[in-house]
Amino acid sequence: MSKPEDCSAPLVVRASVIAEIIEAVREAVGAAFPIGIKINSTDNLAGGLSREEALDVVRMLDRTSVDLIDVSGGTYFPGAPSSSDRTASSGPYFLDFAERAKSVTAVPIMLTGGFKTRDEAKMAIERGAADVVGLARAMVLNPSLPKTWLSARGGDPEFPVFDATVPGGVTAWYSMRLTAIGQDKDADFDQSLAAALEAYEARDEERCTKWRARFA
Ligand SMILES: Cc1cc2nc3c(=O)[nH]c(=O)nc-3n(C[C@H](O)[C@H](O)[C@H](O)COP(=O)(O)O)c2cc1C
Repeated sequence: MSKPEDCSAPLVVRASVIAEIIEAVREAVGAAFPIGIKINSTDNLAGGLSREEALDVVRMLDRTSVDLIDVSGGTYFPGAPSSSDRTASSGPYFLDFAERAKSVTAVPIMLTGGFKTRDEAKMAIERGAADVVGLARAMVLNPSLPKTWLSARGGDPEFPVFDATVPGGVTAWYSMRLTAIGQDKDADFDQSLAAALEAYEARDEERCTKWRARFA
């Protein structure tokens, strides 16, 4: 395994840790247990992972025993746009990359990011860009969405429109809604973006305090 301080190491060296982890997990779970990995198609960050490098990662994953590669993009690194913070969508974000990924691997590709409608999901599968569609925000709006889309009734989720957004705000809003779902309180969830961000940051701070105390 390369040393942690070796940030300038070539991608193949840096990415080899992924192969090592997959093989260690495989050894622990056995041959029949499905292992998936979520990777970025790009970090959308100067100096971060590029699409060409991500394609090399897919080629490397093809030589491992992984069963599913979930392709998304973005990062929570300060200053970089995370894909779950986007508000506008002109359809799935990483469709072209997924198509390229499919051409270099036989491992099934899941595509995540920007799916808002059943038609978009259907198009990605029918076009052969992906074998599976991944949903984050759409499922936070309707946790039964796969069932809904598979049923004859169909129906796409209604995405909230925020007047003004702040960095991290959209992700915070969906995170707090997800928390409300976990507590069975989503029917009354009506937080504004600002209130959600405040609650999210307060929760993070509380967790950081616990972690610092635990691992000091
Ligand atoms: C509330 C929330 C939490 C997320 N947490 C993670 C995470 O822990 N790890 C990760 O790789 N992506 C995470 N994401 C990003 C999503 O997996 C996904 O890549 C992104 O939201 C784009 O997909 P979407 O358009 O279906 O929302 C999160 C997204 C949301 C909305």
